[in-house]
Amino acid sequence: SGVGGGVKATRNIAKKLEESNKNVVIFWGSQSGTAETFAGRLAKECHLKFGLQTLCADLCDYDPETIALIPDNKLAIFIISTYGEGDPSDNTLGLWEWLHKDAAGIKLPHLRYMAFGLGNTSYRYYNRVIDVVTEALDKAGAQRLMPVGRANDANGGTEEDFLSWKDDLYEHFISQLGFKEQDIPYTPGIRLVEDESLDVIDLNLGEPLDNRHGPARIVKQYSAIKPLPVETSYELYNSPSRNCLHVELDISNIPELRYGTGDHLAVYPVNPDQEVQLLLQALGLENRADTPLLVQPLEEGQAIKIPSPTNLTALFRHYLELCAPVSRETVGQLAKFAPTTEAASRLACLGKDKTGYAEFIASNHITFGRLLSLAAPGSIWTNLPLAYVVETLPTLQPRYYSISSSSVVSARKIAITVGVDSTPLAASPTTEIRGVTTNYLLSLSNHMNGTPSNAIDSPSYQLSGPGNVLQSSMVHACIRRSQFKLPTVGATPIIMVAAGTGMAPFRGFILERARLKAIGKPVGRMLLFFGCRRPDEDFLYQKELADVAASGLEGVLEIVSAFSRAEGKPKTYVQDRVAEYKAEVCELLNNGANMYICGRASMAREVGKVVEASMKELNNWTEADARSWTESAKKGAKWLEDVWG
Ligand code: 2AM
Repeated sequence: SGVGGGVKATRNIAKKLEESNKNVVIFWGSQSGTAETFAGRLAKECHLKFGLQTLCADLCDYDPETIALIPDNKLAIFIISTYGEGDPSDNTLGLWEWLHKDAAGIKLPHLRYMAFGLGNTSYRYYNRVIDVVTEALDKAGAQRLMPVGRANDANGGTEEDFLSWKDDLYEHFISQLGFKEQDIPYTPGIRLVEDESLDVIDLNLGEPLDNRHGPARIVKQYSAIKPLPVETSYELYNSPSRNCLHVELDISNIPELRYGTGDHLAVYPVNPDQEVQLLLQALGLENRADTPLLVQPLEEGQAIKIPSPTNLTALFRHYLELCAPVSRETVGQLAKFAPTTEAASRLACLGKDKTGYAEFIASNHITFGRLLSLAAPGSIWTNLPLAYVVETLPTLQPRYYSISSSSVVSARKIAITVGVDSTPLAASPTTEIRGVTTNYLLSLSNHMNGTPSNAIDSPSYQLSGPGNVLQSSMVHACIRRSQFKLPTVGATPIIMVAAGTGMAPFRGFILERARLKAIGKPVGRMLLFFGCRRPDEDFLYQKELADVAASGLEGVLEIVSAFSRAEGKPKTYVQDRVAEYKAEVCELLNNGANMYICGRASMAREVGKVVEASMKELNNWTEADARSWTESAKKGAKWLEDVWG
């Protein structure tokens, strides 16, 4: 956002709607891009289906108090995600803080709105943000036209939850608001213009668009995006089904780039060449792949989501998410552009058939390019506008990794620990869906080490050519500061709980405290609970950490392991070990220890329950005491979590 348009854009949403002649605003609050994509799709579809003039609005591009100025002949739709501990995304913070700070003073008598929240029941505060926001809007006198919709990502149901809420929304449009269904043909919101006169030097050929969002203090949490040389990369383990990389990036040539132990590294992925080529072929654009291309908004001042000028290869390789499964809605829309009547009817059917579509994606790895070539083998999609492709595919987002080095020990070298994911398809387990970023890093690692890849269908990447970042073993990345920090006082005891790659930040913590102790500083007790499958398979950094525990942090660090699939042993999870150690855990916590949990949200929730229950039991507390202790520990940054879904 924020690109395009020379004039300073207004931050008054009512004024913007008035000036641009829109009658519906769709606000989005998103960190990873899903809510943003939904808002974009909805804005487009409301226009084509009902002739509405819609504006898709990044929440942080407008001053929240101007929401009160939206007149009652317009509609507002809020699509907002919840993260971590019930937190808003960065770009929702402005709205969030305004609603909290001014609660009593806000009056919204004219606002008519609908809302949809994105969340995950694996987290403790399921969809808390949309609930808090809509409650506050209602208190201020806004008129909620429909029950709030909620998506639950726990079982990957977000897309279908959105589609079914959208059905309700359209039903409401027709029956309550009297909107008439129309069938407006697709009209692009952007223009793509080839311009042979542009110099290759001026093209964006992989440099990510800096799309930091939100209030200044949020933006400040991110460093600039830089190409960072990979110094070393190797596999920590390699079992038949999974492997894990240790990647070290050299930042010695970028003095202004600083990180801290516990921070995150955002890595910008690159799409595999197979997918890029497949899409170029299906569109019949292989011979235009390297022609300079301008991407422009059709409306003055409208933000565009990709850098311009670029070319098609870079667009597909670096800027659009090509590998995600195609949504059912998109499948249905594609029918209109299909090159054969047979493909059109197959796609139209699939787009309408929820069960059929679910079965289809459970047994096929369907990316955008694969769908086009599968639906109409050998045909070229000449009727499919490139603008549709660019508007429909989400932008390629960075993926975040917890840094596993200590900035005190290695200030100029950043390590990350990357579990390479390959998920077998439910109905066709021999086909795997490969994680885009993790497999890109694996290929880079294999390339650097001269190791051939052992998988038959492993992704390939172009390794040379102008502006190609793979050539020099660089990855585009930036640092995001986190709150997941060691206590400022080294003598404070800490409890760390991790499963799988959740170990990453704790390696940094442990190496840092070993250094502190080596230079004579006092270091408090460290209890690490670590869970993995088998002791001889995926025990990350086992030797390194055992060595530190034996000499360096002897008598300070204790490593307690839990193995879920060890031969002939009962399945044990970290929370089981925490329960065994509850006397010591509670004593440490009662004496001011910090509690850290890193790994999957479902694990963090289980561990949290055990810790809270133990504190209740051993301190003879009531349920309410225990609950309020946990909450204040979290508020006071004594209990910190770094978790993912
Ligand atoms: P699994 O064998 O059941 O997959 C890292 O992935 C480790 O975390 C694995 O040992 C895995 O066990 C374990 N794990 C999976 N779900 C968990 C949960 N809800 N709580 C704790 N550990 C879990």
